[in-house]
Amino acid sequence: MTPKNRKHYERALQIIPWATQTNAKRLNAGCQETMPPFIKRADGCRMWDLDDKEYIDFRSSLGPILLGYRHPAVEQAVRAQMENGVLFSMASPLELETAEAIIENVPWLEQVRFMKTGADACSCCVRLARAYNGRDHIVSIGYHGYHDQFAYMWPNNGVPKEWAKYVHDIAYGDCAAVERIFARNGNKISAVITEPYNWMEIPGDDFLRILRRECDRHGSLLIYDEILTGFRLARGGAQEYFGITPDLSAFAKAMANGYPLSAYGGKKNIMQQLEKTILTITHGGETLSLAACLAVMQVIKNEPVHEHIRAMGKRLKDGWNEIIRETGVLAHCGGVEQMPFFHFDFADPQENAAWRDRLFTRLYGRGVFANDRWIMMYAHQADDINYTLEQFRLSLKEMC
Ligand SMILES: Cc1ncc(COP(=O)(O)O)c(C=O)c1O
Repeated sequence: MTPKNRKHYERALQIIPWATQTNAKRLNAGCQETMPPFIKRADGCRMWDLDDKEYIDFRSSLGPILLGYRHPAVEQAVRAQMENGVLFSMASPLELETAEAIIENVPWLEQVRFMKTGADACSCCVRLARAYNGRDHIVSIGYHGYHDQFAYMWPNNGVPKEWAKYVHDIAYGDCAAVERIFARNGNKISAVITEPYNWMEIPGDDFLRILRRECDRHGSLLIYDEILTGFRLARGGAQEYFGITPDLSAFAKAMANGYPLSAYGGKKNIMQQLEKTILTITHGGETLSLAACLAVMQVIKNEPVHEHIRAMGKRLKDGWNEIIRETGVLAHCGGVEQMPFFHFDFADPQENAAWRDRLFTRLYGRGVFANDRWIMMYAHQADDINYTLEQFRLSLKEMC
């Protein structure tokens, strides 16, 4: 870490636990020699750290940046809305316009409502499901944010362990566990909430089909946590990609290209529970994020955003495969093109982690910023991928 970064980091640690708000933005000890702890600006697919060092970014702010930083259509929409105000004493007309634009891209949704974080939207879906069928248990698959019911299993987290009575936490793809839980508790299960795809595996339509079948058999609802997949996997999200329709979905990250917005929606008969159930926040109708979302919805409808993202992801994966063949390193790459991954394949997990840290230390040093999931954005161009692959090749050759 450079002296400037070190000084800022140490000051931040004094008054901000972790020196950041987000777990995934904590410094990785194995890469801290070159990992920039702070980013002061970003544009397109590039970002700059405190020392003005430039990086091509493949973390995309952990998912929200779909189009690229400071995408002109989004910036223009937000600036125009700023002229009119950020939050009003009654609902803004933008709420309807944005909800309509979302439904146009995700046509299975009948009604939509806005929140601020991914965890908010996931919790709202679960609350609605419980209100709808009057049951208390849920099956939870994957990460849904920090709220109590999704976090009781984390160590030292201040959450009563009693949540385990109601929330059955199972691994993505574990069909036997799904069938076992439904066989034992089927009539108590209000809903299954699942990430439709866990990004490290082959897309799992069979798993989703089993979830849909078990939910239908037992009168439970199927909830997709589309916080990461929504508007990224496809214009219409996981429902479009897999062709299996849930009852409710939660969206966040990519929907507003970095502005803080989330949404939940689904079938009208379930959403109508909101006549009796109170889910409310002060900033739900904040207009700058809604304006950003509306602009994103228009861009993904009118431009080949997903085709481009997939083409860039494919270029990256093809390049990785070539480098793996050239260097003979024990590794493979995989995942969908919207968010591919590169993994070392040594027998010892600690050896994999060490190789990973050595690779990322070199990549950060050479101006390529990524993590295990490489999150593609519309702003990535062929030259960015070519440069990235060159740095990847050089780094791995040094290591082999
Ligand atoms: C699949 C998934 N669900 C929920 C969340 C929580 O979203 P937020 O951090 O906005 O609360 C995340 C965040 O990474 C996520 O990846």
